[in-house]
Amino acid sequence: MDDVADNGTDPKTQPVSRRNFLGGAALAAGAGVAAAAAPSAGAAAVSARPAVQAEPIQFPKSARGFNQPMRFEANVYDCEITGKIPADISGAYVRVGPEFYFPQSLPDNGGIDGDGYINMYRIKSGRADYKSRWVKTERWKNDRAAHRQMYGNYRNPYTDDPSIRAETIAKPYLRTTANTHTIFNGGKLFACKEDSRPYQIDPKTLDTIGPYDFKGKYDSQTFSAHNKIDPVTGDMIAYGYEATGLCTPDLWAYVIDKRGNVKHTWKCKVPQVSMIHDMALTEKHMIFPFGPYVTSIDWLKTGKAHWAWDPSKPSMIGILPRNGDAKDMRWFRGPTRAMVHIVNARTDGDVVTLYAAFVDGSFVAFNGYFGNVDGTPMAKSGPAKLRKYTFDLNSKDDSWKEEIVWDTAVGDIGRIDDRFVGLPDSRYAFLSTTDTTKVTAANPRGGAAYARYDLRSGKINLYSQGDSGLGECCFVPRKGGTSESDGYLIGVASNAAEMRSELVIADAQNLEAGDLARIILPFRSSGLHGLWINDDEVDFG
Ligand SMILES: [Fe+2]
Repeated sequence: MDDVADNGTDPKTQPVSRRNFLGGAALAAGAGVAAAAAPSAGAAAVSARPAVQAEPIQFPKSARGFNQPMRFEANVYDCEITGKIPADISGAYVRVGPEFYFPQSLPDNGGIDGDGYINMYRIKSGRADYKSRWVKTERWKNDRAAHRQMYGNYRNPYTDDPSIRAETIAKPYLRTTANTHTIFNGGKLFACKEDSRPYQIDPKTLDTIGPYDFKGKYDSQTFSAHNKIDPVTGDMIAYGYEATGLCTPDLWAYVIDKRGNVKHTWKCKVPQVSMIHDMALTEKHMIFPFGPYVTSIDWLKTGKAHWAWDPSKPSMIGILPRNGDAKDMRWFRGPTRAMVHIVNARTDGDVVTLYAAFVDGSFVAFNGYFGNVDGTPMAKSGPAKLRKYTFDLNSKDDSWKEEIVWDTAVGDIGRIDDRFVGLPDSRYAFLSTTDTTKVTAANPRGGAAYARYDLRSGKINLYSQGDSGLGECCFVPRKGGTSESDGYLIGVASNAAEMRSELVIADAQNLEAGDLARIILPFRSSGLHGLWINDDEVDFG
C-alpha cells in the first residue's frame, strides 16, 4: 500500500489527495477470498479485464487542474522564498510519491499505483533548491519502452499485459513503483514501496541506482516503506510481509545496523495475510498492526486490486520481543479498525503502549479504490482519531484496551521527533488536522493545519495558515538542541489557487506564530512520505 496524505478536511478540497485520480468504478461482484496459496512461476494468467490502452496518450478529465500529472523532471535553483529560512537549517527534505507518466491501464486503478517520483528540497545558508526525478524502476523502464502502461491493478500481476504477466506473477516485486517513502541508512538513500525491496537513489542527483538487498543479506522479497530507527543504537528495524511471494503468510523482520549490515532476522508467520503497512518500535518490542484487509491468489485472479475489506475479520496487533525468537510473537485481537500508520509506542515493564490515529472502518483513502470482499463498495469510513492502545503482557487475555485521546478528526499519518522513537519519555505527536476557524468557500470544513499534541497533558498547539491542503509534516531538529520538539516543523502546502506547492517552515515549539519561511515552487510538488537528512549525514554537493 502506498497512501494518501489526509488532513481530515473534505477530500474534495485536498488537491494532494489523488485517490480517485482515474475514477473509482464500483467493483463488480467477485469470488470470496480463499486461503492464501503460493504463486507458481508461469501459472495460467486469468485477467478479468484485459489491459487496454487508448492511443494517443490521453489522461482523464479528473487529471486536470492541480491534479495534472507531473510528466517532467525538474531543477529549480534559488527557489523563491517568503520570510527567512533559519540559518541553522542545513540539509534536505526528501519525499517520494506517486505520479503518472502514462494513464493507468484499468479504469479502477487509482492514484496510489502511480510511478515513484522522488523530490528534494535542499536547504543551505538560507537558500533552497528543488529537484525531482522519476524512480526508474523496472516497471517505469518497461512502460517507457512500450510507450504505454503495461501493468494492471494495484499489486495484482494477473491483470498485467500478457507479454509480461507470467514473469510478474512469479516475481511480483518487479511491479513495484517505489512510490511510498524514503529511507536513509548506511549513508544510502532509498525509495520504498512495500511490495519489493527498496530502490537505492543517489542523494546528490536523485538518479536511480537500482534495487538493494543490503549486501545480499536481506532475503525477503518485500521491504516495508515504514521502518524505524532505534535512536539509541542507530539500528534500523526493517520488515517485509508477503516475504516469500504473493499472498504468502510470511512476515520477516530485520535489524540492520547504521552501516547497512544485517545483524539479525526473525522469520514469522501471520495468522492471516493482511496489509502491514507500518510498525512501531519500543526499547524492548516490535509492534505489527493490521486491520481486516484480506487477499489471496483466488482473489487476485478475479482481476481486482490486491486488498479487499472483510469486516468479519478482527483487527490484529502482533508484539515481538526484540530479544526473543520468531515463535515469541504474540497476537492480540480487537475490533475492526483500519490500522495503517502509527505514531509512537513505548514499553513500561510488562505494559506496551501504542499511539496511532486508526480509523473506524476502512481507511478513507481506499474508499472507491478497494472494495468489500463480497464485491460491494466500501462504506464511507469515519475519520482517524488519535488513540492509545494498551497491552498487558502479563495477562492471558489477548485483547487490548483502546482509548480515543483526542476526539478530533486528524490525518492518520502522525509524525514525531524521531530522536524519541520508542522511548518511554516521548511526549509529542505531530498530526495534520483541520482548523475550523478558517472556513472558506474552498475549504468548507476549515483550513488545513498541523498540530503538536502533548500526550501527557493533552495540550494542543496549532499551525494554521488556511492552506487548501497540507502534506505529511516532518520534524527537523534544531542544530545543537537535544530536547524533544526543539526544532522546526516542515511540510508541503497546496496552494490550489495559484497552482503551486510551498514548503512551509515553522518553529515546532511555537506553531501559532505561523510561517518562519515558505519555499515557493512554480508548480505542484507531489509526495506521500518523506524524511529530513542533515548535511552532516550525507554530501548533497
Ligand atoms: Fe504510509
